[in-house]
Amino acid sequence: MCVIPHSQRTGLGKRLLDSLVKEVADRDNIIAIYLLTNRDVPAASFYSKHHFAASPKKVVMGVSVRSILDAKSA
Ligand SMILES: CC(C)(COP(=O)(O)OP(=O)(O)OC[C@H]1O[C@@H](n2cnc3c(N)ncnc32)[C@H](O)[C@@H]1OP(=O)(O)O)[C@@H](O)C(=O)NCCC(=O)NCCS
Repeated sequence: MCVIPHSQRTGLGKRLLDSLVKEVADRDNIIAIYLLTNRDVPAASFYSKHHFAASPKKVVMGVSVRSILDAKSA
C-alpha cells in the first residue's frame, strides 16, 4: 500500500486500511490479511499500530535468481 508522499500522515493510509478490512469482513471466506513490508521502515510501525503482527507460524522466504544460477553453474 502506498500513499503519495505529500499526502502521507494525513489519515489516508488508515482510511484505505479500514475500507479494505470492511470489504473483506463482508466476504465470509476471508479470515486473515497478510502483507509484505520491509523491516525498520515507517510502514512497519503503521501496520503495527493497526494490529498487524509478525506471524508466529509463517515465514517469508526469498532468493536472488542470480544466486540460483550461480549455484547451478558451480
Ligand atoms: C505506510 C503508509 C501507507 C501509511 O499511510 P499514511 O496515510 O501516511 O498513514 P496515516 O496518516 O493513516 O497514519 C499515520 C501513521 O502511520 C505511521 N507513519 C506513516 N508514515 C510515517 C513516517 N514517515 N514516519 C513515521 N511514522 C509514519 C505513524 O504511526 C503515523 O501515526 P502518527 O502520524 O500519529 O505518528 C504511507 O506512509 C506510505 O505510503 N509510505 C511509503 C510507502 C510504503 O512504505 N508503503 C508500504 C509498502 S508495504
